[in-house]
Amino acid sequence: MSDEITMQKNRFCALALACALAIGALPTARAFPATDVRNSVDFTSDVIYQIVTDRFVDGDPSNNPKAPLLSKDCRLTHLYCGGDWKGVESKITDGYLPALGVSALLLSVPVENVMATIAPSSSSYHGYWPRDFKRVNPAFGTMADFKHLIAVAHAHGIKVMIDFVINQTSPAREDDDQYAEDGRLYDDGKLLVAFNADAGGMYHHYGETDFSSVEDMRNKSLYDLADLDQQHPAIDAYLKSAILVWLDAGIDGIRVDTVKHVSPAWQKTWVAAINSHRPVFTAGEWYVPRNETDPAGYQFANQSGMSVLDFPFAQTLRAVFRYRDKDMTALGQMLDETGAAYLHPLDQVTFLDNHDQNRITLSDSPEHHRLVEQALAFALTARGTPMIYYGTEQYMLGAGHAPLNRAMMDKFDRGTAAFGLVRRLAALRKANPALQYGSHLQRFVTPDLYIFERRFHGNTVLVAINRNPYKEASVTQLVTALRCANGAPTRYADVLDEQQDGVAITVNCGAAAVAPFKLAPGAVAVWAERDDSASTLPELGHVGPVMGLAGEEITLSGRHFGSVRGSVLFDAAPLDGAAITHWEDTLIKVRLPARGAGRYAVAVQRDGARSDSYGGIEILGAPQVSLRVVVDDASAAAGEQLFVLGDDDALGANAAGRAAGPMDNRIVYRYPSWHTDVSVPAGTALSFRFVKKNAAGTVLARESGAAHRFTTPAGGTATVRVKLNGWSGAAAPAAQP
Ligand code: NOJ
Ligand code: CA
Repeated sequence: MSDEITMQKNRFCALALACALAIGALPTARAFPATDVRNSVDFTSDVIYQIVTDRFVDGDPSNNPKAPLLSKDCRLTHLYCGGDWKGVESKITDGYLPALGVSALLLSVPVENVMATIAPSSSSYHGYWPRDFKRVNPAFGTMADFKHLIAVAHAHGIKVMIDFVINQTSPAREDDDQYAEDGRLYDDGKLLVAFNADAGGMYHHYGETDFSSVEDMRNKSLYDLADLDQQHPAIDAYLKSAILVWLDAGIDGIRVDTVKHVSPAWQKTWVAAINSHRPVFTAGEWYVPRNETDPAGYQFANQSGMSVLDFPFAQTLRAVFRYRDKDMTALGQMLDETGAAYLHPLDQVTFLDNHDQNRITLSDSPEHHRLVEQALAFALTARGTPMIYYGTEQYMLGAGHAPLNRAMMDKFDRGTAAFGLVRRLAALRKANPALQYGSHLQRFVTPDLYIFERRFHGNTVLVAINRNPYKEASVTQLVTALRCANGAPTRYADVLDEQQDGVAITVNCGAAAVAPFKLAPGAVAVWAERDDSASTLPELGHVGPVMGLAGEEITLSGRHFGSVRGSVLFDAAPLDGAAITHWEDTLIKVRLPARGAGRYAVAVQRDGARSDSYGGIEILGAPQVSLRVVVDDASAAAGEQLFVLGDDDALGANAAGRAAGPMDNRIVYRYPSWHTDVSVPAGTALSFRFVKKNAAGTVLARESGAAHRFTTPAGGTATVRVKLNGWSGAAAPAAQP
């Protein structure tokens, strides 16, 4: 089947899909290709378009907030400007977003926010001041408008993601209950708690973070935003039930705001709860500043069950194409580092800029426009799931911090070079599995030239970018996986139609070398080969979600699974029969087996042939509980750290190198008391003790005496607080500062 026919078929199926979602059913008998809008756990074929809802289109002036909240001409950029869900919908139905080719939207936080200005003149137009997570922000429309937008988007083959807050409510000040709304939190209209009437401790009250440590960021407020304590049973239950409102409205994905400021253990329990209800693509905002690396971000992406917004990718891309303080070799170095660090690199959301950063476009000069096109071409063809910030295709400017980078969308010109480039590459991403699932291989690099290849079995995409605006690049002896056809040199046209000054290339037979060619100053070119021929091998490209309970369904995407059911292997043990709920050539659905908690490698087998394995799929033993482990009287010397070691996987499965921690001892509990949170199975008897390590991770001492025992509750959160028995194998330490 040709790409064009496949895409038309997707469009044809889309209306039926919207109906299926509305009644919560997924048809299993009908064709359901991997790139279908119904696949809300695999975004590898998608291009996400991020919209600040208030700043896109005002489709319904009747829902605009009144003065002083509104700036009609959007000159007061801290106020509401009128954009709403009807406005977004209008850009689907008038063909703009479908023509751009994006197949997923990320919308601002949709929940009800504080509807007052806060001195001197700020407002909640961005959505980050929630007051009721179960209701809509009326400035964006009604729940009916929201659901209508989703149905329309689905009918056009477009998924809908929402931004969602879990860290905070709204601005509040300690001992000043008259400030703003005092961070009040409502549960579908009913007041739950206020920041200065919080006898039960649903908020943290430790002041504002100075970002100096993970402990500081997790437990203190981000700026003046009333910081929720997710470990409090009522907040835990509230946030877990609130997200169901939006899952039930039909969303396909979630950007999770500010994940660095919330306990990763609790977030894992939250993702597990989502997956048990209806799994969707989930990516957390783990911010990493320029020129920094943060191993904790990779760890979060690998262990929380959600992906992240890929800041290491974005910061490098921005350094190369916006700030130009790094050369093209940095791209390959970043891909090597992140490729090794992320367990599932394809699921990380790559981007150029967003509502918190200087826009990627530096000026209106043709040279800067070309740099934007180069950055777009790189993000749209490299590994990961790319996201474009609204207006990038119009070269919108916006340097300086928010809200200058959140101006009202001012034009919808379908003729810009960036628009054409996104359209062509979004189509290629939908059509060619090399961009969805492929490996990355650097083929040629100089400080100004980067040529790389993505490859998935017989499918290949080769990309060349010459960053130098003045100098042509001569490319000789370029090796590629693109093949020569029928034993004769084969011409590959530029997928970008030479709009970015690219050229066609000729691939010679034999050494698969490309005939020498020249790449014009600033040129971008993309060449692709798609292999539709039947394969004797099932080709597994993606598995999602990466975490779930036994009995919950996961989705396998790829090619050549065949039409006759085979089996799905979990660490080589086959699963078939009723466990497989859907099987077609590009998509399989299977229920996770009760094989014991842990990580498994998944593979597809049919007709005696077996696919590559897709690793790191976590089967949970039971629904997850966020357990706070507190230990008192635990002495340690400066620089030493405490960890919890136990029989459960989350406690390291008795392997000291994997023990949970390091524990904190400065804010919630203070030295010589320590605490850490872990995501553990509900209703399970745990045994654990503490270990002490130095900064290099060497175990210095283990707790003496009998192990502590605790049985976790059936759900929610729990705290176990114990006294240290003493250390064995340790000299008496000097006290920690
Ligand atoms: C990160 C968001 O992207 C930013 O815009 C917001 O202000 C903070 N989180 C707080 O929600
Ligand atoms: Ca409006």
